[in-house]
Amino acid sequence: MDSIKVGLLGLGVVGGGTWKVLARNAQEIARRAGRSIEVTRIAVRDVAKAQQLVGTSVKIDADPQGLVRDPSIDVVVELIGGDTLALDLVLTAIDQGKHVVTANKALLAKHGNEIFAAASKKGVIVAFEAAVAGGIPIIKAMREGLTANRIEWVAGIINGTTNFILSEMRSKGTSFAAELAAAQALGYAEADPTFDIEGVDAAHKLTLLASIAFGIPVQFDKAYIEGISKLAAEDIEMAERLGYRIKLLGITKRRPEGIELRVHPTLVPKESMIANVEGAMNAVLVRGDAVGQSLFYGKGAGEEPTASSVVADLVDVTRLLTADPEHRVPHLAFQADAMADTPILSIDDVVTSYHLRMRVLDQPGVLADLTRLLADAGISIQAMIQQPRVHDKTAELIFVTHEAVERNINQAIASIEALSFVKSKVTRLRMESLA
Ligand code: NDP
Ligand code: HSE
Repeated sequence: MDSIKVGLLGLGVVGGGTWKVLARNAQEIARRAGRSIEVTRIAVRDVAKAQQLVGTSVKIDADPQGLVRDPSIDVVVELIGGDTLALDLVLTAIDQGKHVVTANKALLAKHGNEIFAAASKKGVIVAFEAAVAGGIPIIKAMREGLTANRIEWVAGIINGTTNFILSEMRSKGTSFAAELAAAQALGYAEADPTFDIEGVDAAHKLTLLASIAFGIPVQFDKAYIEGISKLAAEDIEMAERLGYRIKLLGITKRRPEGIELRVHPTLVPKESMIANVEGAMNAVLVRGDAVGQSLFYGKGAGEEPTASSVVADLVDVTRLLTADPEHRVPHLAFQADAMADTPILSIDDVVTSYHLRMRVLDQPGVLADLTRLLADAGISIQAMIQQPRVHDKTAELIFVTHEAVERNINQAIASIEALSFVKSKVTRLRMESLA
């Protein structure tokens, strides 16, 4: 049988990894796919650099538009990134009747509805395993392996760069800037690393997971996003002392009123599995009503781990080429005409536990006033710690709350900060037991 002809858009970290894995494991891959998978054309900006990796046997040029219109190409693999040129190229490839494999979560989180609709209309596949959690086959697991379940929630460490930074800072006491530079050198970070550190990349991925979990359209614009750039070293230290670790979590949860969709630094118990996911590793915890909790763990970024997912998609596309488009696995797990319009909840409506830290004057009545204020806001206290600072007659107070509605917490924080004996802003961190 003829080989499948692949056009590679981009030969950077992921494109280079994809080339290497396809070359190294060509025979095994062909045995699994039933046909050889052959890269016959590559588009980059710097052709000479690409030739150093690939040689001159494959056509390499700086003409991505030519590649997506090339009638000899069966599958276009988009590994350029961004959501302008990439959007145009992906839509053109679909329009040309080509299947698409992409690792581009930014593109799908913002334009996924349009792209999947165009692909369905043309009867082509858009596969995106590499777009979420790098080498972990979480899309396939949720879309196919867990189809029996009503998914209740998904929570995960889905950005390798920030997990790497937080882990290294905690274990080595190094600086944020040094660890960001290290993550960039290792090829983990996005072209614009603010996407990583401000939680945007994790929100792109979470948006896709939420769609697959709950059968809702892709709605990145409704995600609540808070990154790690405002975390202070003392937040990390304080969490440790209290038996917690801070992780940048993406959380999406089904509630009777709607769906929570949020990315933020989160305190998790130190002994929990997710707290011990370190470095650029990712982990996604899925709770389904039948299966209970399942944890998917593995490398979330980097050259070959991500290539592993890209190539798995290429094998899937190859196997599915002969299947009637109507009978393929739906892009977002649910049939296109069976999507739900369950609303995404505002962050004000989120329900979780909180760690509130503040500095107060160490004098009679302070605790009484604070606990009364929290009680009046409907917030129940789970634990409280006071650490006196003798030199300035103040004390550091930490309240750990039971689950509360975020709106009530924010109102309580505003009232607390207005009290004359409160001498700092209130540091608020959300907490999850993930039980
Ligand atoms: P890189 O920056 O390493 O590579 C981008 C590639 O695209 C380069 O080969 C570049 O060519 C090429 N390119 C960029 N613009 C153009 C253009 N206008 N015309 C032709 N070629 C172009 O990116 P990554 O490999 O890291 O990321 C690729 C995608 O994979 C992104 O969507 C990213 O979010 C996603 N991803 C990345 C992961 C990672 O660990 N790095 C993990 C999971 C997903 P040249 O080299 O000549 O400039
Ligand atoms: N920048 C991303 C990360 C790459 O650090 O997780 C993998 O998607």
